[in-house]
Amino acid sequence: MVADIEKTSTNLFKGWSDIKNVARAIRNNGLLETSILIRHSLANRLQYYLDRNFDKKNNVDTDYVALNDLDISSENVEYGIDYIPTSAFSFKRFIEYLPRDLRDFTFVDFGSGKGKAILIASHYPFKNVIGIEFSEDMVRMANKNIQNQNAEYRKCQSISSKMIDATKYKIPDEKLILYFFDPFQSNVMEVVVGNIIESYKLNPRPIYIVYHEPAERKVFDSSSFFEEIKQNRYQFLINFLCPYQFVVYRMTGLEN
Ligand SMILES: C[S@@+](CC[C@H](N)C(=O)[O-])C[C@H]1O[C@@H](n2cnc3c(N)ncnc32)[C@H](O)[C@@H]1O
Repeated sequence: MVADIEKTSTNLFKGWSDIKNVARAIRNNGLLETSILIRHSLANRLQYYLDRNFDKKNNVDTDYVALNDLDISSENVEYGIDYIPTSAFSFKRFIEYLPRDLRDFTFVDFGSGKGKAILIASHYPFKNVIGIEFSEDMVRMANKNIQNQNAEYRKCQSISSKMIDATKYKIPDEKLILYFFDPFQSNVMEVVVGNIIESYKLNPRPIYIVYHEPAERKVFDSSSFFEEIKQNRYQFLINFLCPYQFVVYRMTGLEN
């Protein structure tokens, strides 16, 4: 899960200059697991550097927030994952698996936090970009970021952040790109995926799912409505530089 990986690898990285810590990690976790953690630490450092650079360039603040530090009234709060921003570099990886012409598509980020993914999405020509988030504080921060964002990079002007629990969100009756960056655990994901399927059955239309750090991918994999889009064979080289993996699905089964 995204938050656990973040903690473990960041701790190890602090010890990176301390050979003793690395030796202890090898003793405790074995060589293979330690090298995976070191790779993850380096990818994390790179991502952190790029994130801060993005914030500076765009005049926004999208740094990490722990859900424990916020007052959230949703009954699903215990199943939610801390706010960790998507990196612009990762976003570029997914885009190539989506339709070329995005102008008819609405992008929805489930668990949008301070709005990093929707800010990046607004750099692409989507019809609408919508973030949904159950923390009032983070929705306020996201709206401030939308206001402050350097608009010169924006290709979609219809961008918003709404406060709502993901399970209660009505899926828009439009062509969709639905984005998840490890936002919640399987019980919440099951409800959301059920809502997506119902919406697709009522109006079969192009719907793509991008699932970044797909901890609960079994919820999608166990339904015949989601077909995984194969990644090109060089993708693993780029993925090596990123701390998190991703999967893209296309909804299928009902179109004429
Ligand atoms: C890993 S962060 C994803 C951040 C954002 N999507 C991005 O890429 O920049 C997970 C987010 O999901 C939100 N979240 C968790 N459970 C939720 C729920 N049931 N409804 C709405 N938002 C939720 C958390 O508050 C957190 O902001």
